[in-house]
Amino acid sequence: MKKTIVITGASTGIGRATALYFAENDWQVAATMRSPDKETELQKIENINVYQLDVTNQTSIDKAYESISSDFEKIDALLNNAGYALYGPFEISTPEQIRKEFDVNVFGLMDVTRTFLPKFREQKEGLIMNISSMGGKITFPLISTYHSTKFAVEGFTEVLAYELEGLGIKAKLIEPGNIATDFGGRSMKFAASDVVTDYNPYVENMMAMMQAAGPDMYSQPEVVAEVIFKAATDGTDQIRYIAGEDAKQLISMRQENGDEAYVKHMKSQYAIKDNG
Ligand SMILES: NC(=O)c1ccc[n+]([C@@H]2O[C@H](COP(=O)([O-])OP(=O)(O)OC[C@H]3O[C@@H](n4cnc5c(N)ncnc54)[C@H](OP(=O)(O)O)[C@@H]3O)[C@@H](O)[C@H]2O)c1
Repeated sequence: MKKTIVITGASTGIGRATALYFAENDWQVAATMRSPDKETELQKIENINVYQLDVTNQTSIDKAYESISSDFEKIDALLNNAGYALYGPFEISTPEQIRKEFDVNVFGLMDVTRTFLPKFREQKEGLIMNISSMGGKITFPLISTYHSTKFAVEGFTEVLAYELEGLGIKAKLIEPGNIATDFGGRSMKFAASDVVTDYNPYVENMMAMMQAAGPDMYSQPEVVAEVIFKAATDGTDQIRYIAGEDAKQLISMRQENGDEAYVKHMKSQYAIKDNG
């Protein structure tokens, strides 16, 4: 029997590339997305079924779960991929913007997980893969709430791995570096203010650095899809899978040199005055 994976946020980027990669490798894919009516390509691919699922709407999650579990006898893996980043100084980010980001990146991921867990328990088998980020292990300036959501996903998943082990269910984390997707375009949200201008030099510095970095900074989403496939099929209890050379370098730099050295390095990179 073919294995089945459910993917959230499969309309674009990493989610879409992963849907295609698993389908090519003979898995059945339940590709879920907010607006399946806009999708024309995935619907036509053998091994891929498309479902409506907004991770911030429990009714939508329940409906998708019912359709998927009636279409597929067994569900082998769930990939919680839907997510986006809010950029800008914390003080300027509104409570609504911050809550919305947590609703998608953290509470949505938890709600989807909770909905699929009874099925995994009944099967006595299942795999939950949560897309974190190198931003779940290291930090950059001006993206505090995104890092908060991904640090939350890291802690949440690690604890799930403990409490689900005895039930035959695995929980894993995927930590991509910079990936060329809609993440830095259509999906990116900004917090800005005409009133509070003290942060402007930081924002300008950050924007200039991002622009100067150029296309070489980014890996393709297929790189992440390949890593996710390895996580789903290697049969190990490994929890963390890093995707992208930049992520490997930065995460190991922090691990080897320690937290304080990492923060000092980042401050010097972004030319933020170090009073320490
Ligand atoms: N690209 C990177 O550099 C990078 C690095 C590390 C981690 N990541 C993580 O990778 C994941 C995928 O991002 P990506 O790079 O592939 O960006 P992307 O191309 O912008 O894809 C984001 C996906 O999330 C979906 N989404 C947003 N809100 C949703 C909601 N309420 N319900 C369901 N789906 C929702 C989007 O759907 P719509 O089409 O409906 O908007 C889209 O399919 C995210 O968790 C992100 O944090 C990305």
